[in-house]
Amino acid sequence: MKEREGVVNPRRQTDELGLEVGLRPRTLADFVGQEEVRRNLAIAIAAARGRGESLDHILVHGPPGLGKTSLAYIIAEELGVGVKSTAGPVIERAGDLAALLTNLQPKDVLFVDEVHRLPTVVEEILYPAMEDFRLDILIGQGPGARTVKLELPGFTLVGATTRAGLLTPALRDRFGLMLRVDFYTPEELTLIVRRAARVIQVELDEAGAKEIARRSRGTPRIANRLLKRVRDYAQVHGDGRINRDCANAALTLLDIDQWGLDRMDRQILATIIHKFDGGPVGVETLAAALCEERDTLEDVYEPYLMQAGLIKRTPRGRVATTRAHQYCREPAPGGQQGKLF
Ligand SMILES: Nc1ncnc2c1ncn2[C@@H]1O[C@H](COP(=O)(O)OP(=O)(O)O)[C@@H](O)[C@H]1O
Ligand SMILES: [Mg+2]
Repeated sequence: MKEREGVVNPRRQTDELGLEVGLRPRTLADFVGQEEVRRNLAIAIAAARGRGESLDHILVHGPPGLGKTSLAYIIAEELGVGVKSTAGPVIERAGDLAALLTNLQPKDVLFVDEVHRLPTVVEEILYPAMEDFRLDILIGQGPGARTVKLELPGFTLVGATTRAGLLTPALRDRFGLMLRVDFYTPEELTLIVRRAARVIQVELDEAGAKEIARRSRGTPRIANRLLKRVRDYAQVHGDGRINRDCANAALTLLDIDQWGLDRMDRQILATIIHKFDGGPVGVETLAAALCEERDTLEDVYEPYLMQAGLIKRTPRGRVATTRAHQYCREPAPGGQQGKLF
């Protein structure tokens, strides 16, 4: 990947953001799990390279922290092209998009995060750009206005979204490949935690890695964050090495229970069960009762609770499952492995 992005300030490398960048897998081989995504991508990339063409546009969707941004950079790396990165809400006017597109080199990747939040005016000029590598820009207003056509180099749009359902059908249809990233298994997360421990140079045994992996809501970003917090704990309360007891103590202190649920997860379940008789309760009502944004509830919390079989989405609202009722009746005994997961 050619470095045409802004220069990274070396001092930032040591802070949390720098750490996330440092932990990001660089190649498909480094990318753990998501077998189907990797297989499909490997084929598409090899074929595009073989033909010497730009890769088809790709949509990556799924909950936060599961590797969407990482995949965009991996695609560019594997293609051996440059990457420019932006986000839907940042591109306000047609001109902003035109500036980005006309700055691309042939076959480059344009990564648009939160692609479902592109303004309509921008989306409309994106269609011909994606389809025919052509920009139709309206210059001026009223009777003097005219359209200027610009030829663009072939490029690959990689769009990421937490909500594929919010994309307009017209935009969705213009992606040649849709990749869905899913929650990771504890075994996959264990690999990710062990790799991260090597990068940040902390000693971690297998049981410690498993404990962090098991309590990370199936999410690599959370696993990496918890690893850092457990590292702090091990440094202050121990000899700096991470084992199961140390991971357990640190995670319990962070209010992450034996099933890997955090305080907000528990509050959501308790609210549905105790305030709304187990549901169904509309998402707006639930969000208001929790003093939380509806979008955050839907994007960040619900996907995992649904995947864990604790809540269900029904046409009349959210419902707590039998499993959630069991969970709320039977608080996890301290230090013991939970029965539910
Ligand atoms: N498949 C994976 N293998 C290893 N690490 C991963 C993987 N997916 C995500 N990560 C880690 O999680 C972090 C967050 O991933 P990111 O790509 O930013 O997620 P998203 O864009 O979906 O929110 C990355 O910096 C990386 O360290
Ligand atoms: Mg991202």
